[in-house]
Amino acid sequence: MSKRSVAIALGAIALGLCVVAIRPSRTVHADDDFDHDSHHGAASPAKHAERLIAEGRQTFRYDTFGDEDFWGGKLQLHKTVEGAKLGGLGAGLSPAAALAVGLKVDVNALPRGVREQIAAGRVDLNDPAVTLALLRFRSVVGVTGFFNESGSLRSIGIQCAFCHSTVDNSFAPGIGRRLDGWGNRDLNVGAIVALAPNLKPMADVLQVNVPTLKKVLLSWGPGKFDAEVILDGKAFRPDGKSAATLLPSIFGLAGVNLHTYTGWGSVPYWNAFVATLEMHGKGRFFDSRLNNRDQFPIAAENGFGDLPHISADEDRISKKLPALQVYQLSLKAPKPREGKDFDPEAAERGKALFTGRAKCSNCHVGPTFSEPGWNMHTPQEVCIDSFQADRSPDHQYRTTPLAGLFSHQKGGFYHDGRFSTLGDVVNHYDGCLSLGLTPYEKSDLVQYLLSL
Ligand code: HEC
Ligand code: HEC
Repeated sequence: MSKRSVAIALGAIALGLCVVAIRPSRTVHADDDFDHDSHHGAASPAKHAERLIAEGRQTFRYDTFGDEDFWGGKLQLHKTVEGAKLGGLGAGLSPAAALAVGLKVDVNALPRGVREQIAAGRVDLNDPAVTLALLRFRSVVGVTGFFNESGSLRSIGIQCAFCHSTVDNSFAPGIGRRLDGWGNRDLNVGAIVALAPNLKPMADVLQVNVPTLKKVLLSWGPGKFDAEVILDGKAFRPDGKSAATLLPSIFGLAGVNLHTYTGWGSVPYWNAFVATLEMHGKGRFFDSRLNNRDQFPIAAENGFGDLPHISADEDRISKKLPALQVYQLSLKAPKPREGKDFDPEAAERGKALFTGRAKCSNCHVGPTFSEPGWNMHTPQEVCIDSFQADRSPDHQYRTTPLAGLFSHQKGGFYHDGRFSTLGDVVNHYDGCLSLGLTPYEKSDLVQYLLSL
């Protein structure tokens, strides 16, 4: 050891002694090494978690899991984006058109010069070439463009952020800082997919023709997607309306047991499901429940419950699941502002109702506002039809976590947005649970819901 390192080592020991001396009541124990790398070569929990969060965020925002082989390779979606003038097909997707279907632009990904040009109105938002530039900056939230050396678009892929991130509009409508975890209730997934020149591969899986598939895609509308149609082929509810559900916000989920509106499973379960079956990434996925031919004819026909037909090396999803899960659980629900997003006095009175006479906390228990434990209920318990519940293995609905509710009112409430306002939700429970709430009490309860 050199003199210098000895001195440093001694200094460190001295410092260590000081810490022990200053805090004599603290027992020094291996488990206390929360912030320090442990003596066993394993990372400290805090550092490990930090690393996982950073890695998971990268995956969430930018990882296509190789799904460009589907969206670009098979459906040729990049050609419509590019337009005939630049080597693709048709008119191309201008930034204005992209924003109109709900795509968002991450302002921080744009070089300062470009931001200034846009602000000065010197960028033509009706020019598809500008969309390609935005893709090159990796600024289109949840979408990655893959380019040829010549500069033309070779393929296109999507990420989790496509549906579960939006922006704060701080720069312009649709352009701002990323809000990871916020369901994009402007995004018209169906309309975007319907732009693809070759929908046949998707139509074949669903065993329908292309015009029928287009009709289904265009029935979803903004802020919605149907994750189950590729399993059961049920594109419409018995009342003729679209079977799509709202794109949920995925913050505030730490501590919540089952996920999705119908409780398909845990966060890593659903992540593997979505990344393979919906995004068409390259990974392995197992769920023998999907072999049930009566409930999931299309999934059973296509062997979706057992997707091991790629090698471990080709699997680009499984190894991402741990970090992706930690990142999602690290996303806190946004906090509403007192007096601005809700009236604090009314909310206080509403809280007493929520936990008391209105019986809400029989199911919605803070801080997750889902149930600690098995967070599932029959359709009858919440007085709604069983259509969507019956499209899931348990035939039930999961108690929706309510933290950050104020931030996702667009598109309505309940899995399919059937109630347009929180007032409508409260009226529904008033009847369902025979609460006999007065109009004042109902409005207090709404203020409390906005305060969560
Ligand atoms: C095409 C849009 C879309 C994409 C892409 C997408 N999701 Fe989702 N996500 C949804 C929809 C819709 C639901 C609700 C599904 C349901 O309940 O049937 C959902 C549900 C979830 C849930 C459950 C939320 C809750 O309240 O329990 C999580 C977690 C989630 N997604 C994470 C992800 C991750 C991680 C990715 C990337 C691997 C991803 N999603 C990609 C649309 C999408
Ligand atoms: C029996 C359990 C149960 C009780 C009691 C209950 N809820 Fe719910 N709640 C649920 C379930 C399950 C859902 C999901 C329904 C769906 O998506 O179709 C839900 C959904 C909601 C939603 C929609 C959230 C969203 O983002 O779409 C709100 C708001 C809500 N409940 C508020 C309340 C209030 C207020 C009360 C009391 C008056 C209450 N709940 C009582 C189980 C319950």
